[in-house]
Amino acid sequence: MLLGISRMAVSKHVAGLVAAGFSVEAVRGVGYRLLDEPDAPVPAAVELLLTEGPFELHGGGDTGSTNDDARLLARKGAAEFTVCMASSQRTGRGRLGRTWASGPGGVYLSVVLRPAVAPADLPSLSLAMALAVSRALRGRGADTRVKWPNDVYVDTGKVAGISLEMSAEVDRVAYVVVGIGVNVSRHPDTHAGAGCLSDVVTAVPRRAEVAASVLDELHRAYRIWSSEGFEPFESEFRDAHLLDGEQVTVRDAFGTVLATGTVSGVDAHGRLMLEGEGNTALVSSGEVTLRD
Ligand code: BTN
Repeated sequence: MLLGISRMAVSKHVAGLVAAGFSVEAVRGVGYRLLDEPDAPVPAAVELLLTEGPFELHGGGDTGSTNDDARLLARKGAAEFTVCMASSQRTGRGRLGRTWASGPGGVYLSVVLRPAVAPADLPSLSLAMALAVSRALRGRGADTRVKWPNDVYVDTGKVAGISLEMSAEVDRVAYVVVGIGVNVSRHPDTHAGAGCLSDVVTAVPRRAEVAASVLDELHRAYRIWSSEGFEPFESEFRDAHLLDGEQVTVRDAFGTVLATGTVSGVDAHGRLMLEGEGNTALVSSGEVTLRD
């Protein structure tokens, strides 16, 4: 193939691929032959698979937390769609201060977004992001469901978690870091009760493929959410929702009970609707537990 760049530039790109874990053979008089790709969400591999977005990709190996990596870049002014990825994390964190098991069987990525909204408008973004991840995993053959506000499940348990961390003034968001963890294959670190993509698909995708699908769907969903809000997602969320008809309690981040009742769905703003005795409660954010 004619690349229109110097031999020196080609060999620099090849050295970059080798450093990222690709196996490349030099063929005398011909050029280079790609022998093997790493099973890791490295930028060079993910970039080739993306069909959407002006993403700027970083990382791909082991890190502390991709959320911290992305926040650091966001604070320095990184553009929207800057992404930090990892194939394992040493200090992966979940929502509400929990840890997120981040062994080498998963995909871990964080995306910097800069939505032009107030903090109060953000909760429905996390539902749209959950649907994006759910769509991406469906595209890989998994029969996924979502649990309000932003967990993605397969038959065997929670397969993906999403967190939103933001920096904001009272009436204006500066940036949001959307952190996404997907359990692709089981690993000694994977919680026994967690779901894994490999439990439910016959052909387990490479982790770069999972990362690219997630980013593509995230970009599509974010574009729609930015211009039209949550309404276009409402019926899909209802159809994929695990909790309908369940008796639940919703608590805030400090454990205070916000509402109890039977889930009747989500409204056009992404609020969870709970039927109580003679009234409907609407909850914008919180942690849901099933009542026994
Ligand atoms: C949850 O509690 O369900 C949310 C889990 C979010 C985990 C992801 S993995 C990539 C990013 N980096 C982190 O440290 N956390 C998020």
